[in-house]
Amino acid sequence: MTNTDEIKSKLDIVEVIKEYVKLEQAGHNFKGLCPFHNEKTPSFSVSQDRGFWHCFGCSEGGDVFSFIMKIEGLDFKEALKMLAKRAGVELVPENPKQANLKNKLLDINELAKKFYAHLLKTAPQAKIANDYLRKRQVSPESIENFELGFAPNSWDTLLRFLLKRGYKQKDIFDAGLIVQKKGGASYYDRFRNRLMFPINNLHGQAVGFSARALEKTDTAKYINSPQTDVYNKSEVLYGLDKAKQASRKNNAIILVEGQMDLISVHEAGDKNAVATSGTALTLEQVKILKRYSDNLLLAFDSDVAGQNAVKRGIDIALAEGMNIKIIDLEEDKDPDELIKSDINKWKNAVKNAQSILNYYFVQTFKKLDPSKIEDKKSSAKILLPVIGKIPNLIEQNHYLKKLSEILDVSENILRESIEKSKKKSYNKIPDKKVSQRLKNASTEKKDRVSQMGEQLIGLLLKYPKNLDYFEAQLHLEVLPNKELVKIYQELINFYKNSQGSFDFNLFLGHFKESNEQLFNLCQTLLLLVEKDFFDFSEKEIKQQITENLTDLKKEYILKQKKILEKELQESEKTGEDKITDELLLRVSELDKKLMEL
Ligand code: UTP
Ligand code: MN
Repeated sequence: MTNTDEIKSKLDIVEVIKEYVKLEQAGHNFKGLCPFHNEKTPSFSVSQDRGFWHCFGCSEGGDVFSFIMKIEGLDFKEALKMLAKRAGVELVPENPKQANLKNKLLDINELAKKFYAHLLKTAPQAKIANDYLRKRQVSPESIENFELGFAPNSWDTLLRFLLKRGYKQKDIFDAGLIVQKKGGASYYDRFRNRLMFPINNLHGQAVGFSARALEKTDTAKYINSPQTDVYNKSEVLYGLDKAKQASRKNNAIILVEGQMDLISVHEAGDKNAVATSGTALTLEQVKILKRYSDNLLLAFDSDVAGQNAVKRGIDIALAEGMNIKIIDLEEDKDPDELIKSDINKWKNAVKNAQSILNYYFVQTFKKLDPSKIEDKKSSAKILLPVIGKIPNLIEQNHYLKKLSEILDVSENILRESIEKSKKKSYNKIPDKKVSQRLKNASTEKKDRVSQMGEQLIGLLLKYPKNLDYFEAQLHLEVLPNKELVKIYQELINFYKNSQGSFDFNLFLGHFKESNEQLFNLCQTLLLLVEKDFFDFSEKEIKQQITENLTDLKKEYILKQKKILEKELQESEKTGEDKITDELLLRVSELDKKLMEL
């Protein structure tokens, strides 16, 4: 048995999911409100026996691992670790060398974090840091909670400490904590005479640091750990380890730029805040944030919100379908300053956060006059690319209409300009995403025929006895896609070979080995029919299968007929009577078949 199988066999998926979703028994399965999209009536189903979940609203689904990955925002390995612990299963690392190195770098950063925190509390030299924290009104609870520390004004205090604890210079270097002297073989501490903000991963383990100068310095105000094997700067967000739960609970995430801002915002009671550490939001970060909420509130310096790098981050988040609002900070203030000057102003600003689009409109027409032709052009140039990136077409249309009214220019012309500007756009990534999303959206809406086919195969999977009766009538060509054909073929083979003792789990297990996609589809189909037909009698099930099969046959014949009719048109054009007669005959045969159904 593999690790994952052992974990799954030891865990009850319902118990695991219940910690996040209120589940109620419905027939054989459990159902509840989907935690991954907004809904008022439950379309989220869990099958306890099969260890599988699926949401019929947003089409997400999978096993206990995919659930934990999605809801906790973990990658597979992390979910494996978490569930292994819960199931009491001991994991053998796949690549012990690699795992060991990462663990070593994490250990070193963790130890440095504790060392710096200890120094802040006890070292006489740390007075400057403590004075500074008092001046910035950082509470003792925050110092504790965010594990703030102090790096002394010395070249090797940390290095010596870590060496004494048995770590190798090479590993301390790989952890990003020391710097190599130019041209020399010796190393010195990266952070000196600074206030230390540990940067944690999602589990609260330190992966690096951001360090603020305490006195005037010719180097940067903040210096940061470099990218390392445990610190991927495009993924980590400062404070997310502490903001995860509140973000999900409030279904909103407040994004600030700085460490100090983040701490202030948390102190102000908004525990759902994370910080970008002054860089533009990346696609990876957006994807991680989306695991907790689709609603993003930006609290950036007003002059900063207009800068290109920030805009790029906003574009990415918009293209990923996030709803973005802007918290309007007063002139020249960052969240920390606003909170320290008047916490109620901050609270109101959060409450009155306005949609990014409205914000862009207001900002644009503060400066430009829509009655002047030049300003018309300039404002369209600013606003259309942003409007063009809204993935939801209804929302996009809303803002197009608004702009069309303000500028007194027809919506069609504006739409054309969007298309043009998209082609020119230097930033292709979000645009690709938009088209991808649109594509997905159209395929998500399955047509009726696919639905009928899925229902049919689902019913046969769930009630295979019916195969005895239906096999002769079910011709593969009526099934609307090849996945269903494949499942049906496997099912019928398996059923015949099992000679009356068909074991469903054996059947699924067989798929699991060979084709995970089909395995997942089987699970989904089962949940689908369990949801819709749980109270049907055997007779009613048989009736339902008959209906679906008849409908599918009808659809298939109609499709054939359409093809023939096209050919017929062609042959009539060319005047080939013989072909025309033959085609007519075939059409009438199809009509007869239709009548017989
Ligand atoms: P700001 O310059 O806006 O500083 O940088 P701040 O957050 O208001 O900091 P305080 O209040 O003066 O302490 C915002 C963020 O950008 C990153 C840091 O993460 C900082 O919190 N930054 C800034 C750097 O990495 N290096 C710098 O030199 C400056
Ligand atoms: Mn500040």
